Amino acid sequence: MKHLLVTGGAGFIGANFVYYWLNKYPEDHIVVLDALTYAGNRTNLLEAEKNPKFEFVHGNILDQPLVETLLKKHNINTIVHFAAESHVDRSIHGPDEFINTNIVGTHTLLKASKKIWLDQGRTDHRFHHISTDEVYGTLGPNDLPFTEKTAYAPNSPYAASKAASDHLVRAYHETYGLNTTISNCSNNYGPFQFPEKLIPLVIINILFNKPLPIYGDGKQIRDWLYVDDHNRGVDLIIKKGTPGQTYNIGGSNEWANIDIVNLICELIFEKLSGDPGLAERFPDSPASKNINPKVLIEHVKDRAGHDRRYAIDAGQLIKKLDYSPAESFETGIRKTLNWFFENEMWWNRLLDDSYKCWIEKNYIG
Ligand code: NAD
Ligand code: DAU
Repeated sequence: MKHLLVTGGAGFIGANFVYYWLNKYPEDHIVVLDALTYAGNRTNLLEAEKNPKFEFVHGNILDQPLVETLLKKHNINTIVHFAAESHVDRSIHGPDEFINTNIVGTHTLLKASKKIWLDQGRTDHRFHHISTDEVYGTLGPNDLPFTEKTAYAPNSPYAASKAASDHLVRAYHETYGLNTTISNCSNNYGPFQFPEKLIPLVIINILFNKPLPIYGDGKQIRDWLYVDDHNRGVDLIIKKGTPGQTYNIGGSNEWANIDIVNLICELIFEKLSGDPGLAERFPDSPASKNINPKVLIEHVKDRAGHDRRYAIDAGQLIKKLDYSPAESFETGIRKTLNWFFENEMWWNRLLDDSYKCWIEKNYIG
């Protein structure tokens, strides 16, 4: 039986992971440790909190005594480490939090794990570190996708902080023998994603007749994966992965940003123009007036150090651990849109004045 400590479980991928795991392994226990930053939302875990096998702890991964207490008190044998500052644009405007949480925070967790597991002779443990394809830098149009052997070349403070944390995790395996695994995943989308990221931002801006900011020419490419397919990969790595190993996770689904934005415009146009009830709920949206929301697209100043293309080669995970994504992009993006339509309360509450100011200051050129 697993006793999991899930850091950052009130965020986008972490919350989806909690539901995935409780549903698949109902006998396991989960403790979430989350500092509830702007990106963390306890209501993401409302359903999980009804489960007696689940507990939420409001706290910071930088608090080593707290982490040690949790490891002992709950007899934790598996850490799944999602907690991070995750938004590239924020890392450009203010890198300090990224260094604190992503590097120092990860090191704090490693120190606590060493002390409570290794120094007490507990070999039945796993520290799984969630990382990103951004550590590999950027690809040219004809380059092969990133493999686990691609040299690290991070370009943003966010990517550099994640790269540093990956190195620390690796070092704790090589030096001290901590049972670690790392996964480097491509761009996720799905329920609970904070609306500063491209897909939820575009959905919400279309509904409120706000500009759709496209950085530069919009031809940058990202490799999109539905969030449950990320978590399915993490599950396989925790259950069957080799300690000390790194695994890429991705679904070979490359899209230029402008094409994704155009697709979302089409899908929302289809939905609102064919459903008077929905159109009534979002009267300001061009789609409710039979106008394709593409009219809202605005090319704005490019992101500094903007990576041109990401693409993941998940061959190792597919061949060695029998991984395959369950969701196609067609089904995943429709599911995501439906979730945002059905959960207006969830995202409306996030659009407070400070959030709107941040978006306006940083995006609208
Ligand atoms: P998110 O920003 O939605 O959530 C991060 C969570 O971590 C929040 O709940 C926040 O409150 C919590 N947190 C932040 N600092 C903390 C601290 N010091 N102590 C405790 N909790 C803290 O992030 P996400 O998009 O869900 O990403 C989760 C992880 O997955 C990150 O490590 C990220 O680097 C990685 N990742 C994300 C993607 C993606 O597309 N979103 C892709 C690959 C990898
Ligand atoms: O690749 C994995 C990474 O994906 C994760 O490690 C990060 O945590 C996650 O935030 C994501 O990073 P990106 O920078 O790729 O995601 P974002 O949604 O911010 O942007 C996606 C692309 O869209 C990127 O090329 C920038 C562009 N963009 C983004 C926003 C928010 C725009 O053109 N306009 C926008 O308003």
